[in-house]
Amino acid sequence: MLANSAIRVMVIGCLIKEAVMQTIKWSEDMTLGVKDMDEAHKVFFEDLSALLTMPDDQFPTAFMGLIGKVEKDFREEEDLMEEIDYPGLLGHREQHSRVLGALHHVAPHVLNGDIALGREAAELLPQWFLFHLSTMDTALAFALDTQGAEINPATIRLAAERIRQGMDRTT
Ligand SMILES: [Fe+2]
Ligand SMILES: [Fe+2]
Repeated sequence: MLANSAIRVMVIGCLIKEAVMQTIKWSEDMTLGVKDMDEAHKVFFEDLSALLTMPDDQFPTAFMGLIGKVEKDFREEEDLMEEIDYPGLLGHREQHSRVLGALHHVAPHVLNGDIALGREAAELLPQWFLFHLSTMDTALAFALDTQGAEINPATIRLAAERIRQGMDRTT
């Protein structure tokens, strides 16, 4: 009985891990149409995926490296928002600050050898990222696009589709 439960827990653990790993893949439908943002998001997924398969002895350095890159990406997005006097700047910055705050909270523990906590935090990032991408970053990409003379129809379609999906989730 105990052995069966242990096997079930192990199998469920593997399935969850597999689901997380499948989420950590860049796909074309994450494209927002703003080159710098798309490139940064793609690299983020690659780095995150590499981090999660990193051996324990290399994990702390890679974890700190990822935090540094996330800080830089967030700062660049915030600079873009300031440039266009974006009305959603405060809310967007607050979401960035929250995730960075959580990562900074975990960082000293990881540096002190709590690799499991670092892995747990890293595994939560794709879910946060996908939500942020489909809401805040999509809205920003739309605003950046409409600053130019030409509006990219693909971005408008994407924004409309994501807004619709968001409404479906809340009903
Ligand atoms: Fe972003
Ligand atoms: Fe963002």
